[in-house]
Amino acid sequence: MRILLIGATGTIGRAVAAELSPRHEIVPASRSRAALKVDLADPESIRALYREAGPLDAVICAAGRSRPGALEMLDDAAWSASLANKLMGQINLVRFGMDLLSERGSFTLTGGMLAHDPSPGSVAIATVNAALEGFVRGAALDLPRGLRVNLVSPPWVSETLLARGMDPELGTPVAQIAALYAASLEGGSSGTVFDMP
Ligand SMILES: NC(=O)c1ccc[n+]([C@@H]2O[C@H](COP(=O)([O-])OP(=O)(O)OC[C@H]3O[C@@H](n4cnc5c(N)ncnc54)[C@H](OP(=O)(O)O)[C@@H]3O)[C@@H](O)[C@H]2O)c1
Repeated sequence: MRILLIGATGTIGRAVAAELSPRHEIVPASRSRAALKVDLADPESIRALYREAGPLDAVICAAGRSRPGALEMLDDAAWSASLANKLMGQINLVRFGMDLLSERGSFTLTGGMLAHDPSPGSVAIATVNAALEGFVRGAALDLPRGLRVNLVSPPWVSETLLARGMDPELGTPVAQIAALYAASLEGGSSGTVFDMP
């Protein structure tokens, strides 16, 4: 399959590329470091990405940012930025891509475990991740031509914890998380939230 991978330069994106590239053609995209550039928060940039990317069988997004901060700290701009980037950015990937993907193609988006297990100061992240779960369940029912859409909901990644000077044992190795993206891409499910058992 020919797969557009957004966030290809990130911790999770690099592992997804390593997992899938022996079996598929990866078209890497990211905000600034990959050959194809896109800003998830800018709908026109997503449309331009699809024009550049050429024919696609699948889209995987391992990108998207929402703002940390306690409820009383998050102002209008912080909420707007969180919704525009990780939530609407990924919804727009599906909206603008659904007429372009080949028959029975798939979208795999990224949420996160804070949807179900928030910690103090993660309310915007928890909100966005939970909304993405609702989106894939609903969109799966509406997509035409056998298209599928799923969400991977990663736990803390060991490599991310290590990079932040925290105990990697509290997280999951990124290679195991990459396998969830492969299951979404190569399995037959739609409207599914993939997380670690
Ligand atoms: N790592 C974790 O522990 C963890 C846990 C749960 C959920 N997640 C979620 O998984 C996703 C990826 O996390 P990660 O740790 O792999 O992130 P990361 O290492 O910081 O990498 C982020 C990737 O997204 C790209 N990117 C950043 N802003 C973008 C934008 N506005 N438009 C398009 N691409 C953009 C970056 O591109 P450039 O390199 O070009 O800037 C990079 O490829 C995020 O949504 C995160 O919330 C991560």
